Amino acid sequence: MTTRVLKHISELTTNDPSLGDESALGRLFDAAFVFDDDQVLWVGPSSDAPDADEEIDARDCAVVPGFVDSHTHLVFAGERSDEFEARMAGVHYDGGGIARTVSASRAASLDDLRRGTQKRIAELFTGGVTTVEIKSGYELTTEGESRELEVAREFSDEVTWLGAHVVPPEFTNNREGYVELLKSSMLDACAPLAKWADVFCDRGAFSVDEAREVLTCARAKGLAPRLHANQLAHSGAIALAVELDCASVDHCTYLDDHDIDLLSASATVATLLPGAEFSTRSPYPSARRLLDAGVAVALATDCNPGSSYVTSMAFVIALAVREMAMSVDEALFASTKGGALALRRGDIGHLGIGACADFAILDAPRAAHLAYRPGGNVVATTRSSSRD
Ligand code: NIG
Ligand code: FE
Repeated sequence: MTTRVLKHISELTTNDPSLGDESALGRLFDAAFVFDDDQVLWVGPSSDAPDADEEIDARDCAVVPGFVDSHTHLVFAGERSDEFEARMAGVHYDGGGIARTVSASRAASLDDLRRGTQKRIAELFTGGVTTVEIKSGYELTTEGESRELEVAREFSDEVTWLGAHVVPPEFTNNREGYVELLKSSMLDACAPLAKWADVFCDRGAFSVDEAREVLTCARAKGLAPRLHANQLAHSGAIALAVELDCASVDHCTYLDDHDIDLLSASATVATLLPGAEFSTRSPYPSARRLLDAGVAVALATDCNPGSSYVTSMAFVIALAVREMAMSVDEALFASTKGGALALRRGDIGHLGIGACADFAILDAPRAAHLAYRPGGNVVATTRSSSRD
């Protein structure tokens, strides 16, 4: 196996407090690290770096762990830019457009779905993402959700069944029938294809009781729960996520003090998706209240054609810093280690010894440039152990 050493890194963020300056971000300056095809083997000052088969000079470059985008809806057909334009002119987002993407995705060929997903994955990767979670949820039939999961599996191990995205049009007058379908034949077909189950538990989608039913059945079939919660309105969805020990509860746009108390005493990560608030012109979630209460926070793109057609984690970081009062370091941590926690993975999101050799080399001397130069191409090289 080939070993490589990256030397003279101007600022290396490891997210391993036992390394570097012992802050949560474990920072080193004029640093080096050695890695093989799979994992990080050594980290330290450049002057102490051991030899390796290949040497790469990273002078004037910052290096960060690869971004972990723990919430996306990449498998879909069509686009909804007209809705975006209408929202910018004052129309309110209510999730109603999901039905349009369901109709376009049902009509698409498998090849079209695969090609679109591949294109969006490539954009994410170019921007430094090395792990991506992918949800189904745009066909809402047993066959359709199964094929979306099959496509997602071609690109990631972090695959989520979101059959409970909304009630599809043919079940408008029979939502109990759709919940029954979710819990029976759809779950039987989809459970072997996914790792996670998610429900859009919000106004206009599924109630807390329906979400509990679906996630409880999913868990019995081997899927681990996560939840879309409180994007559109406040409800008991955060409490449900904590009750079910969800790995992550996502959006959290509307939160009260009780929600924050529950989260801070739990192992459930609050995943914030500021691309959605940007693209729907909605109030941003209160990241400061979560962080100050000690809640683990992740940032993700929520890439989807309706509420957040965003494929840049750097843009998400910039939004988090500018609009949600997160420090650059908090946003960077949330986009890497936070995402890993939201997927309950210890091997990614950091560059400690033994971690996956997943990282981004920046064409910038400090990671702060990710937020400082929004819209620029700050990520020069993305390296992922699962791709190389
Ligand atoms: O996470 N909120 C639910 N699902 C997506 C949006 C889906 C859509 O509008 O197509 C989200 O924002
Ligand atoms: Fe989402």
